Amino acid sequence: MDIRASIIRALADGCFHSGESLANTFGVSRAAIWKHLSKIRDELGIEIFSVRGRGYRLAAPLELLDQRTILKELSGMAAERISYMEVRDQVDSTNRHLMDLASHGIPSGYVCLTERQTAGRGRLGRTWISPFGSNIYLSIYWNYSLDLAGISGLSLAAGIAVVRALERLGLKGIGLKWPNDILWDNRKLAGLLLEARGEQGGPTKVVVGIGLNRYLHESHAQLIDQPWVDLAQIPGGYEISRNLLTARLLDELVYGMSRFQEKGFAPLTKEWREYDVYQGETVSLQIGGKSVIGTHCGVDEHGALLLKEAGRLNAYHGGELGLRLLRRV
Ligand code: BTN
Repeated sequence: MDIRASIIRALADGCFHSGESLANTFGVSRAAIWKHLSKIRDELGIEIFSVRGRGYRLAAPLELLDQRTILKELSGMAAERISYMEVRDQVDSTNRHLMDLASHGIPSGYVCLTERQTAGRGRLGRTWISPFGSNIYLSIYWNYSLDLAGISGLSLAAGIAVVRALERLGLKGIGLKWPNDILWDNRKLAGLLLEARGEQGGPTKVVVGIGLNRYLHESHAQLIDQPWVDLAQIPGGYEISRNLLTARLLDELVYGMSRFQEKGFAPLTKEWREYDVYQGETVSLQIGGKSVIGTHCGVDEHGALLLKEAGRLNAYHGGELGLRLLRRV
């Protein structure tokens, strides 16, 4: 992947580069460049044009992640509280990577961003499709003095942080679906995966991971088994710089994750309800092999889903639960 990532970096400007100049730059033959480009096209789904006499260029310029640009764009609080930012070409999963580092001891506010994940993790054991160079795959590590029960609601707080970041960038119509989905037009734009390891009575090490679709080539989109959307389909979405988007997500996440330590989820319940797309609807909740049906009555101060079933209000905590809309009222 290393040389292929470097070739993509060389082509990212969207201009023509001759086979010969690429071969010289990377110290390989022109035939080797051609082979790498075919793999980039076939395996990474990046469109590359080749024109006789002019060379190769990407169908569209790519804005690759740049640590310096992201750091420069961060708000004061995020700049202060992000302890380290790793920007990688490829990793199996940014969440897995940070959980692994956390077990050896890293400071709160450690961030990992990558251009591509080879084993991106989604909720409920799903795979998160993570092609190179066009989406956001971001994880942030935080060490809470709270115990595992104390962090309930944190993933909802992170969802609100994502919505706030997108709204700050001018996007309209973003909604939340309990517990971890960010939707637009009832299709999934982004998902959150929270992984935690806690001691009794605290502390709890938490990794919050965000996958946000910015542009999905059809070869990757066809692997997704639920209604999806990317920023490219949302008015004003694709024009947003990928580095700026990353910085805004980090601003809001750092703010939300810091505040959570003191205040928990309770002050966010009202804001959650404003964004919740299924509020008041009839929904079905999958719990393992079973499902329960009820009216979605919002969330409580711990972020638990409130379902009215046969006149009784029951609270369900996140984790391995899936929610579906049955009918609109
Ligand atoms: C979901 O199923 O909705 C959650 C998706 C979370 C995907 C992100 S991408 C960055 C981070 N690393 C992972 O392996 N998963 C999360």
